[in-house]
Amino acid sequence: MKVIVGDNEKISKLIAEEFIAQINKKPNSVLGLATGTSPLGVYANLVKANKEGRVSFKNVATFNLDEYIGLEGTHNQSYRYFMNDNLFDHIDIDKSKTHVLKGVGDYIAYMNQYDDEIASFGGIDLQILGIGSDGHIAFNEPGTPFDSLTHIADLTESTIKDNSRLFNDISEVPTKAVTMGLKSIMNARKIVLIATGKNKAKAIRDLLCGPMTEDVPCSILQKHPDCTIYVDEDAYSLVK
Ligand code: F6R
Repeated sequence: MKVIVGDNEKISKLIAEEFIAQINKKPNSVLGLATGTSPLGVYANLVKANKEGRVSFKNVATFNLDEYIGLEGTHNQSYRYFMNDNLFDHIDIDKSKTHVLKGVGDYIAYMNQYDDEIASFGGIDLQILGIGSDGHIAFNEPGTPFDSLTHIADLTESTIKDNSRLFNDISEVPTKAVTMGLKSIMNARKIVLIATGKNKAKAIRDLLCGPMTEDVPCSILQKHPDCTIYVDEDAYSLVK
């Protein structure tokens, strides 16, 4: 794994440039996308580059990592809403090629065909990940099998607490989600992970220095052939 250290502005720009280069090299690239606070700067840079004519998303397809169970795509904390609001509504992408797991209705049927659908598009070329303070990637919490495909996950108390900052009250945070599995993520040809802030420091230490174990879901990335970890000084502070 490669590690790149810089402030949020710098690493967000660098990751956006990775996406731009990928799309310019292969205009029908398949992108794996994440929600949360971590990728916001990356998405802002991609919107800017699209408006400047440096990159076009016209032929791109996207697959998101996860979605809360119980939230309609129109709910302002659903991940479909997040993606439209922070990226898709501001770029020239064909929305029918943007895939976000469903959290209501026939969500189980949609979940069961998600990995096959990704494969039918040729697999993910470039995947962006955030990381939870407990070491989760997507909603793969500690103990998730390394060979997991897209599945239903129970969120841990620590994740519910972390994510409650975005809801009116912790009781409103869904306790279950649909998520791509660890194997689904590892199938991506290239992975970039972004982490900033002191509350990610332990997870980043475990990712970079700890043993590869299902107790630390992100540790599976140690065996990915093309994975780069972008961190700020705070997130990197327990590594040196
Ligand atoms: C979101 C996701 C999660 C987040 C993680 C970090 O799609 O898959 O694993 O990346 O919870 O969230 P933030 O970036 O809000 O700290």
